[in-house]
Amino acid sequence: MSIEIVPLAETDIPGAVECVQKAFEDDPYFCWAFDDPSQFNKQRNAASLAAHFQYGLNCGCPISVAKVTRASSETKTNREIRLPPGSVVGVGWWYSPKAASTTQTWSVWAQEWILSFRQLLNNIRFFGRGGLNIRRYWIWKQVQHEAHISLWDDPRGYHFCNVLGVSSEVRGMGVGKKLMESVMDLADQEGMPCYLESSKGYPNVQIYEKMGFHLVKEIECADGPDVCKIYCMIRYPTFKI
Ligand SMILES: CC(C)(COP(=O)(O)OP(=O)(O)OC[C@H]1O[C@@H](n2cnc3c(N)ncnc32)[C@H](O)[C@@H]1OP(=O)(O)O)[C@@H](O)C(=O)NCCC(=O)NCCS
Repeated sequence: MSIEIVPLAETDIPGAVECVQKAFEDDPYFCWAFDDPSQFNKQRNAASLAAHFQYGLNCGCPISVAKVTRASSETKTNREIRLPPGSVVGVGWWYSPKAASTTQTWSVWAQEWILSFRQLLNNIRFFGRGGLNIRRYWIWKQVQHEAHISLWDDPRGYHFCNVLGVSSEVRGMGVGKKLMESVMDLADQEGMPCYLESSKGYPNVQIYEKMGFHLVKEIECADGPDVCKIYCMIRYPTFKI
């Protein structure tokens, strides 16, 4: 199977949404934040993800998708993989570094309002948040904010990997690494650090270590006895001669 890495286009959003939904269905943070499976509304969640992708595109975030270019079959651990051309099998979404001293631009501010408005319309259209436990969402936001304050000591900011997801059919084939590479290479050229968070310790910590990240902190989002652990990792620039 042949896979290309291309910048996300608006027409890729539905495929990217489906890919992320599948890649994260067993993700510990996802299961913690959507704690009642009977309340989960997949369409509401898709609408929210689509609004976020649109926001990312409008803000000029580096978002890449891995797409199947040729319909051929390939064997992976004796399993036939058949995916039609154009299928999105991976998504990598980064935020560019923002220096601590810079203020938010008016265009990003406007996009945040548009995103909030879209989410409000989604709440009306789907009668709620589709099973997202709002209390847990805000616990996560607060814990994440505190982690950034304690870990982000580079005043130039960090390339922040917001989402990385690869379809299970093509995992372990180098797709995730390719989705990370363009930004990691840029970071190396600029001498800038990269940062990510993963709620899946195994095997992700190992996978990201292979890409040059180091585990710097384990944080916990606790809602009573239900705790979601998050692994914070930093990649320092590699200087290539
Ligand atoms: C994490 C994820 C994106 C990795 O993508 P991937 O395409 O499978 O990773 P790659 O094939 O590019 O592998 C990258 C490196 O990790 C290694 N690796 C891959 N799977 C591994 C595993 N299960 N255990 C140990 N190492 C592994 C590869 O050998 C490669 O190392 P190398 O460059 O030295 O050969 C993918 O597993 C995924 O989508 N998981 C579910 C969603 C998720 O958890 N996303 C991350 C949220 S932060």
